[in-house]
Amino acid sequence: MRVTDGTAGARILAFGGYQPARVVTNDEIAQQVETSDEWIRSRVGIASRRIAGPDESLADMAAAAGGKALAASGLSPADIDLVIVATCTPEAPIPNTAATVATRLGIVAPGAYDLNAACAGFCYALATASDAVRAGTARYALVIGAEKLSQWIDWTDRSTCIIFADGAGAAVVGPADDADASTGPGIGPVVWGSDGGMADKIFIKDRRSFIVQEGQAVFRWATTALHPIALKACERAGVAPAELAAFVPHQANLRIIEAIARKLGAPQALVATDIIHSGNTSSASIPLALSAMIERGELASGSPVLLLGFGAGISYAAQVITVP
Ligand code: UT7
Repeated sequence: MRVTDGTAGARILAFGGYQPARVVTNDEIAQQVETSDEWIRSRVGIASRRIAGPDESLADMAAAAGGKALAASGLSPADIDLVIVATCTPEAPIPNTAATVATRLGIVAPGAYDLNAACAGFCYALATASDAVRAGTARYALVIGAEKLSQWIDWTDRSTCIIFADGAGAAVVGPADDADASTGPGIGPVVWGSDGGMADKIFIKDRRSFIVQEGQAVFRWATTALHPIALKACERAGVAPAELAAFVPHQANLRIIEAIARKLGAPQALVATDIIHSGNTSSASIPLALSAMIERGELASGSPVLLLGFGAGISYAAQVITVP
């Protein structure tokens, strides 16, 4: 059982990412379905993606990413009292992935649950972890976005098998003090929403089915409806777009990423393009991209970064965070 006190603010202490070893190139997919490297690069922006091995489970990837974030945070497993795994590709409905991952990492008796907001999942989980820290229902939370989409893809359907991929990304969330507040929003207020009226645009019908999406409809929605959400998140965090160090949207399609980025009025912001070598990893895409940018030394500690998750539901969420 865990009992803690609340705090005025919450921040991210560290990120961690994990990708399966197997690289699948466009040429390899073009041997199975009628497509080409040129089509995939020009329409989606993907050059290659990572696909989990047959024995590599969702929990394996989630634990690998979570373990890296935990190690980088400097905390011990005993400090974590909440674990949230955002995923839309659990191995099974029960048990949840979060409790399994917590046990693997040596985190004893935390609150643990899975959350499904599809490709917006990481931003939803980050918002709920931040609220839990502020309210006092947790002091330190481990937030993981993890997907094994390869098990829900029809590998003969060229409209989807070229896009989706596997991986996991994680963040450790904890309280922010007054000194932290002077360097930025920590985890800024989330701007989120959904539209079940568009549920038929991306779905998996049942356990015997694969991912289906109306690509053009989602593309139109993403390139017209999302930039006001992103700008609202900046406004609520008190950060002008011109102050952003980076924009890290869900890695769905390079053309979508670039279209939204153009509308933000933040030409100085580094734009995450992890999709090129990672594909679309749904709820893992934002923390994976962020941890890679931090590892490459592209983001200074204390700088503000805009996150924007969006996808099936339809669900979306945006917030500005301060780089740990
Ligand atoms: O992460 C969840 C959120 N999801 C998204 O944000 C997805 C948003 N949508 C997209 O990213 C794009 O719509 C796709 C990448 C899914 C598709 O790109 P598109 O430019 O919208 O292509 P399209 O579906 O309009 O198809 C154009 C043509 C079609 O042929 P015809 O009918 O014009 O002869 C398709 O059959 O391209 C064909 N096509 C392909 N050709 C070669 C579809 N897939 C492929 C392929 N290789 N893999």
